[in-house]
Amino acid sequence: MTKLWAGRFEKPTSALLDDFQSSIPFDQRLLACDIRGSVAHATMLGERGILSPDDARAIVQGLEGILADVQAGRLAVDMSAEDVHMFVEDVLTRRIGEAGKRLHTGRSRNDQVALDTRLYAREACDHVRGLLAALLRVVVGLAREHVETVMPGYTHLQKAQPVTLGFHLMAYAQMFMRDITRFAHARQEADVMPLGSGALAGTTYALDRERVAQLLGFARLSDNAMDAVSDRDFLLSFLSAASIAMMHLSRFCEELILWNTNEFSTVVMDDAFATGSSIMPQKKNPDACELARGKTGRVYGDLMALLTVMKGLPLAYNKDMQEDKEAFFDACDTLDGCLRTFTAMLQTVTFRKDRLYASAGLGFTNATDLADYLVEKGVPFRDAHHVSGALVGKCVREGRALADLSLEELQKAHPAFDAGVYEAISLESCVKRRNLRGGPAPQAVLDSIGRAEAFLAALDGPTP
Ligand code: ARG
Repeated sequence: MTKLWAGRFEKPTSALLDDFQSSIPFDQRLLACDIRGSVAHATMLGERGILSPDDARAIVQGLEGILADVQAGRLAVDMSAEDVHMFVEDVLTRRIGEAGKRLHTGRSRNDQVALDTRLYAREACDHVRGLLAALLRVVVGLAREHVETVMPGYTHLQKAQPVTLGFHLMAYAQMFMRDITRFAHARQEADVMPLGSGALAGTTYALDRERVAQLLGFARLSDNAMDAVSDRDFLLSFLSAASIAMMHLSRFCEELILWNTNEFSTVVMDDAFATGSSIMPQKKNPDACELARGKTGRVYGDLMALLTVMKGLPLAYNKDMQEDKEAFFDACDTLDGCLRTFTAMLQTVTFRKDRLYASAGLGFTNATDLADYLVEKGVPFRDAHHVSGALVGKCVREGRALADLSLEELQKAHPAFDAGVYEAISLESCVKRRNLRGGPAPQAVLDSIGRAEAFLAALDGPTP
């Protein structure tokens, strides 16, 4: 393909450089955005009289034809093009002649690529929010099913206090709600229209920037041409939100992997979402979770890559910035694959209530409640904690549980104990009595589920 900028050069570029600098293998993903942006630009140029109505019409029709032809497979993207912007302009000019050469009036590839990337990022944010909402819906549905399913809660991966599976799942629901909000913010950041910035110093043409923004549905205009062509913060915000969402997903995966072990055996993965071993016939591995956990590293890498690309760049545009796209697209694809697979997998897992309950009964998860019981009888918490600790020590030595101790044994440790203690330290009451907002009691979790459902319902409304 001939270079549209070849005017000042006396010889062709080295094939090595052509190959090295070409971004078409990956930025062809921007084709639809590029064409949408160019249609808006040409429409505005026509309305302003910067282009004749005939030229503007020919350009718009030509661009729409290119998009339709590429999408229908009638036009192949030319891999010898320098980038998607050059490809579209070249095809346009070949198809409609002279008018095609007028499209780039008042525009630079620097503001053009900023526009295209912002258009793409806005859609990507909406797409990821949709995927996260689908996941959140599954998590909340499972939580509702399991508001009464008692299980041990952990700190330091040591049994701590009894909770419910519904409560545990709703912890993830909070994370995913924050992620959705984070992607809404990333979208707002991308929702700024940069055309009119030119290469770096605006343009001499009397462009109607508001009109272009309106045609493309942008909320705001960029306010400094130099910043507008140098800025990739909106992609960094996307990648940050993506990294945090992957971190959440990875923790969830880690727990499912752990719960799926023979040692825990509290979750059973569906055969459709597990894989076997080529040598060990008995194996059933939770690969979906492991891969999602592993791919978290890729997304962090994408964020680190772009942060590092940007950190030393003088204003304004530098070709280094072309490196933004592969990192961004990789994060888009990774998130898409992980979220879709994980959500489908989560829908098919079976939680073993019997094992969860039995497990909650081990490890003295009710020791705090035993102390709290004494506090209710007027014993200071520090003393109560000590008494409960001593009883735990005795049980550990004798291989018993707190509920196995006789009233006599309890009263020997502290006279304030009476027969009501057994009810007070049952797993069910340990959970039910934690009935404050944010607690694990079934009613508190149902309230929290209600708020998450309201959050989901509000998402179906207009984008903030
Ligand atoms: N392919 C380039 C990129 O992705 C487009 C912008 C090129 N601008 C320039 N001044 N060379 O960044």
